[in-house]
Amino acid sequence: MINGIKLAPSILAADFARLGEQVRECEAAGADYIHVDVMDGRFVPVISLGLPVVEAIRRSTDLVLDIHLMIVEPEKHVGSFIDAGGDIINVHVEAATHLHRIVQQVQGRDRKAGVCLNPGTPVSAVEQVLPEVDQVMVMSVNPGASGQRFIESALPKVRRLRRMIDEAGLRAEIEVDGGVGPETAPRCAAAGANVLVAASAVFNANGTVAQNIGRLRASLERVERGA
Ligand code: DX5
Ligand code: ZN
Repeated sequence: MINGIKLAPSILAADFARLGEQVRECEAAGADYIHVDVMDGRFVPVISLGLPVVEAIRRSTDLVLDIHLMIVEPEKHVGSFIDAGGDIINVHVEAATHLHRIVQQVQGRDRKAGVCLNPGTPVSAVEQVLPEVDQVMVMSVNPGASGQRFIESALPKVRRLRRMIDEAGLRAEIEVDGGVGPETAPRCAAAGANVLVAASAVFNANGTVAQNIGRLRASLERVERGA
């Protein structure tokens, strides 16, 4: 945690042949969560990974596992991802017909419930469940792949959510996912986000995981809220 901001490396851009090692590198570098992107080839075009991989990550770290379900009919699978070791279960509002029920389902198992907004989905889509949820994820790319460009319209959404949450005294954390790197991370934090997901900014050929997480932390050192 730096300046109240949590870092959540997404393993989507990691070397899957040595996944445990990569997760431990994140842990050693001070990551707060491990973000796990689950894609079903239906909600998003590609299939990424599923339960056995989540179980393997669970065995290699004690960090909070932040499970991002980019899948249709999430209510059918949240229980299995909790059994596999998920700590925060995030579902897309666009995929959930009974969003409130899913939030209850997750919290009924003593896990944290997050709700995710695609870039084209307005903040109003989560307004009604905002008092209940533990986290709102603002997508700053269209879900489906790492390494995409940050979509600027995510920032006003974060500001709006921050205002709504603070004014009502709610507990929901605000996570930004997609295109987060040393240039965009401080801007997300200044807008009011407090959990930042990063895949390609953490796992790349420019540096080690520790160096890359170091760059992200450095970028967050002088963030002023409300900028
Ligand atoms: C996108 C995933 C993101 C992705 C982020 O569908 O939800 O978590 O891994 O990748 P970067 O940080 O490279 O944009
Ligand atoms: Zn994600």
